[in-house]
Amino acid sequence: MFQQLYLSVLLACLLVPSIAFPSYGHESKGANVKFPKPQKYTGPMKIPDRHHPYRAPGPNDKRGPCPALNTLANHGYLPRNGIASAGDLITASTEAFNLGYNFSMAVASLAVLGRGNVLLDKVSIGGEHREVPPLPGKIDGTPGGLSKHGKFEGDISMTRLDAFHGDPAVFQPEMYKDLLAHVDKYGDGDIVTPEVFQEYRWKIHNERMADNPVLNWHTGRLGFSYGEAGFILQLFRSSKTGNVTRQDLDKFFVEERFPENWYRKETPFEFSDIILAVNLVEDAHLVHPGKKDKNGTYVLETKEMNPWFETACAVYYDLLVPNIAAVLMKTRGQTRKNVDAYLGGMFNLFEPAGCPFMYPEGPAEV
Ligand code: HEM
Ligand SMILES: *[C@@H]1O[C@H](CO)[C@@H](O)[C@H](O)[C@H]1NC(C)=O
Ligand SMILES: *[C@@H]1O[C@H](CO)[C@@H](O)[C@H](O)[C@H]1NC(C)=O
Ligand SMILES: *[C@@H]1O[C@H](CO)[C@@H](O)[C@H](O)[C@H]1NC(C)=O
Repeated sequence: MFQQLYLSVLLACLLVPSIAFPSYGHESKGANVKFPKPQKYTGPMKIPDRHHPYRAPGPNDKRGPCPALNTLANHGYLPRNGIASAGDLITASTEAFNLGYNFSMAVASLAVLGRGNVLLDKVSIGGEHREVPPLPGKIDGTPGGLSKHGKFEGDISMTRLDAFHGDPAVFQPEMYKDLLAHVDKYGDGDIVTPEVFQEYRWKIHNERMADNPVLNWHTGRLGFSYGEAGFILQLFRSSKTGNVTRQDLDKFFVEERFPENWYRKETPFEFSDIILAVNLVEDAHLVHPGKKDKNGTYVLETKEMNPWFETACAVYYDLLVPNIAAVLMKTRGQTRKNVDAYLGGMFNLFEPAGCPFMYPEGPAEV
């Protein structure tokens, strides 16, 4: 009798706090984030190898706004159901595309911090999935997956609609046709040149400026959207031929499948390469980061909005500080350990540029 009372009091003591404070840090339910080691061989290589055959996705497999991640999942470089850990994203993108190690670690970390579950170390490359539930107590809303607008997915994409106009994760054949028309006009025969993206990006830039009253084209988004054009020129290119062709574009964008006899890049694609790639695509027509206000007027970004404006740390600040939920810093145990690992993964990329370590201060549940 006394023993039973004692037991129930003890149980109550143990249970009550875990009801009041959802067990963010429950070791048994979490994953301990550990980034994979960098690949040893970083030269060119035929992709896919025989262990990664193409298989079309099934009805329950998630696919989203990134043609490269969709391709990686269709070949099993990422789990075919489209649910990946940060380590999966790093291993797959460095192995199959020769994405730089530091670079892959930073984007993978941002993906899980912004659109995944940091305790379970999982993110959907498409929409919501039961393997990526909200954190206990829904402290940061539902993860959304990479298909969800904001935080990572953003405006003025090349083959996807702005969220204002429709589902921003779905490939749009009409937009792609327009891109190919630019290959006809500005390319070198079937070879896709930088001019193709200089002109195509400029065209869609002006179109979205005109037709999206809630356009949000902040510094990080400018970097990503021009960077992604650079990815196409540099990473969809076969190092065997040295060029990316319109046939290659068809493979990656329409089939989401590696071209036949395709070789990954000769050397890893690092942060310095992305800066060169962004500058090259932006070279022909200068564009400015900003956001439409309530009246639909495009307001340019200033130093007041981003203290690191026009420095190498501007993108780091923009993608992390106002973007990722501050509440993640209030977690404990395994959750907080993982958050720190991802923050370290982002810092790693920007540390060589002299940036200070930054912390998330953004709103939750967006
Ligand atoms: C490893 C982590 C990666 C993550 C988390 C990631 C995530 C994303 C996301 C969320 C988008 C949508 C952005 C938007 O346009 O709104 C996107 C677009 C894109 N990504 Fe990735 N990506 C990764 C790696 C890569 C790689 C390695 C390549 C190229 C080989 C690539 C090529 C592209 C391209 C070309 C687009 C633009 C599609 C368009 O504008 O229509 N990505 N990515
Ligand atoms: C790639 O295309 C350029 C023209 O844009 C051409 O000069 C070069 O020879 C091509 N490279 C190869 C390896 O075919
Ligand atoms: C929007 O327009 C109204 C009327 O012209 C003006 O009073 C208001 O300050 C504007 N708001 C913004 C955010 O510019
Ligand atoms: C990767 O990051 C580490 C730590 O910031 C840095 O020392 C190293 O030089 C970076 N590597 C490249 C290739 O940028």
